[in-house]
Amino acid sequence: MQELTLESWLEGEQRNYGLAADLALLVAGVAKVSRDISRQVECGALAGVLGLHGTENVQGEEQKELDVISNEMMLKAVFETGVVAAAASEEMDHALASPAGERKPYLICFDPLDGSSNIDINVSIGTIFSVLPNPREDASAPEDADFLQPGQRQLAAGYVIYGPQTQMVFTLGRGVVMFTLDPRSGSYILTASNVQVPEAAKEFAINCSNMRHWEGPVKRYIAELLEGTTGVRGKDFNMRWIAAMVAEVHRILCRGGIFMYPRDARDPSRPGKLRLMYEANPMSWLMEQAGGRATNGHERILGIKPEKLHQRVAVFLGAKEEVERVTDYHAKNFTL
Ligand code: F6P
Repeated sequence: MQELTLESWLEGEQRNYGLAADLALLVAGVAKVSRDISRQVECGALAGVLGLHGTENVQGEEQKELDVISNEMMLKAVFETGVVAAAASEEMDHALASPAGERKPYLICFDPLDGSSNIDINVSIGTIFSVLPNPREDASAPEDADFLQPGQRQLAAGYVIYGPQTQMVFTLGRGVVMFTLDPRSGSYILTASNVQVPEAAKEFAINCSNMRHWEGPVKRYIAELLEGTTGVRGKDFNMRWIAAMVAEVHRILCRGGIFMYPRDARDPSRPGKLRLMYEANPMSWLMEQAGGRATNGHERILGIKPEKLHQRVAVFLGAKEEVERVTDYHAKNFTL
């Protein structure tokens, strides 16, 4: 196979499918900074970046040095492209507007380092990003409210996974592509296009330690999976839990299955753990673009109109048949 770099692929998309040059610039900017983040992640303790930063993010979670460093790197890189009007991040309470100037076409939301509890144990982590149109027609500074657009308005979305290989996986609305970072040349090379979630699911991912808190439909769905060949599903399933959404989504895109982080009874006011704008939305669009599905148990995640920047949401995503089944169990209010 002839090697196709990310830059050449983006040029082809502009030439053949009318991809906006500004959007190509932004995707290339995310790719470029992800190489630097990848290098920091690779160095680990050698770079002196592991351990706690001694501060908390807006979710009340402890921030790691690397969370903070990669957030700063992302901000610098996306503003340097000159096409981002404002950025919102898991690590910042509010959106940050770019330095004043001309009107810029995009807003970007990101989780600079998802699954950061994996950092210190050398297990895969990643950067997630979601690009939205800037709704402001003038050069005024966007605020949090400008970001509150449903996921179906995303213009580009994806993640970079820092694992045994560094890979950048994204969609611009024409299928899902995967690029692998060649550590020798420092270039991202196209290694898969038109990625499709395999239809027949054999694996599921959920944090089973929360089982006693789940709602009835989730308990019922998981109980049936666990019954394997002896139950209504008539086949055995395997379970995986990496505790980094990027890694779970990557596995599902490559090998199929379903990922779930349901709401539960511990805090009824909290509609789930994961964040809508920079975790669930980009991953849901990837799934749909790869022929899969993504719901909050009741409705399509991409149709949800956000009310808050750091809004949480229940997530069921992956193979179409499985996501539809568990969503149907919610509609019918099935329980054990
Ligand atoms: O951002 C939240 C996150 O780290 C996800 O990447 C991951 O899927 C989930 O939390 C893991 O949650 P838990 O620690 O409850 O297993």
